Amino acid sequence: MNNQYTGWTLKKYGRAQRLALNTYQHHPLKDTEILIKIEYSGVNSADIALRKGKKLIVRLFNGLFYPKKITRTGVDFSGRIISVGHKVKKYNQGDWVFGLRDNDFSTNSQYLYVDANCLMAKIPIGVSPETACAGSFGGINALFFINLLPKLENRSKILVTNAQGSVGNAVFQILNAMEHDVIAGIRTGHESSFKSQFPNVLSMPENDLRNLGSDTLDVIIDCGGRRINFGLIKALKSKGYLVTTSFGFSTMIFKYITEIFSDKKIISRVAGYYKEDLECIAEYICSGTYDPQVDSIFPYEDLIAAHKYIDNFGKFGSVVIKS
Ligand SMILES: NC(=O)c1ccc[n+]([C@@H]2O[C@H](COP(=O)([O-])OP(=O)(O)OC[C@H]3O[C@@H](n4cnc5c(N)ncnc54)[C@H](OP(=O)(O)O)[C@@H]3O)[C@@H](O)[C@H]2O)c1
Repeated sequence: MNNQYTGWTLKKYGRAQRLALNTYQHHPLKDTEILIKIEYSGVNSADIALRKGKKLIVRLFNGLFYPKKITRTGVDFSGRIISVGHKVKKYNQGDWVFGLRDNDFSTNSQYLYVDANCLMAKIPIGVSPETACAGSFGGINALFFINLLPKLENRSKILVTNAQGSVGNAVFQILNAMEHDVIAGIRTGHESSFKSQFPNVLSMPENDLRNLGSDTLDVIIDCGGRRINFGLIKALKSKGYLVTTSFGFSTMIFKYITEIFSDKKIISRVAGYYKEDLECIAEYICSGTYDPQVDSIFPYEDLIAAHKYIDNFGKFGSVVIKS
């Protein structure tokens, strides 16, 4: 094995061209460390938000003028274990694994050094590393947001907005498999992809969601990550819940106003990720409950092209990078 490997880095916020390849040195494994040869890694909403640095919250967290804390890219990965430290019991050389590096964004790389206790699980037999990678970010976020809901009645009427995105698509598929009465809100341009994948599901363009009427839905899971629309609140039944992936000052104001003037609840959180949820996602993928949608695959060298593709054309499901 060569003594060096490469990984993508982000030294300045802005356009995709700001991304650059950097060289790293291999090092001797610590006792609880694992070395993984990355096979696939993702480009998802967290990477795009970090690269653009448009939101104040990103800059407050990662440096006002240039990225300081997180300077590499890639949250999700799948790959094969090359070697394990002496004290590692749970994993062996040759195991196929997938997981997330939400603390240091370092998966758009040829190799990855992780601690054995990190957010990682074995890929079940029969699941491809490409599918495992494509399902990890959307799947783990979907479980987090679904688990914020109280216990649902059978056949609850649920709207999932942005069901073409990674998180929205996973939320939609998991709730649909639980046999709830799910409506998928789809952003313009992605309707035909959605219809061809899920022909029997009631879907509607995002722009038509305001025509849902009043008091028709038990739950809304809003996966757009943007300002909540008042029309959605109107569509909720009394005591209904809206869970949103958006988080920030305007969402909090919206939540307090809604909860003062109605009996409807809004839940907004920054997602937390758990190993059990990742293992649950592996089972869901294996059983067919969740079939991660791969929009496109770019070669490792073309990470900039993958970012530009998402900036210009959007995506249906996930974009993955093949190392
Ligand atoms: N609270 C948290 O901790 C947390 C965790 C994960 C994700 N999120 C947020 O949840 C959202 C979804 O995440 P994701 O990974 O599923 O992202 P994604 O795969 O990029 O999907 C987001 C979807 O939103 C659509 N969109 C873009 N601009 C829009 C607009 N102005 N109005 C309506 N829809 C728009 C995009 O459509 P186009 O492709 O056509 O642009 C895209 O399909 C993101 O905003 C993300 O920041 C929050």
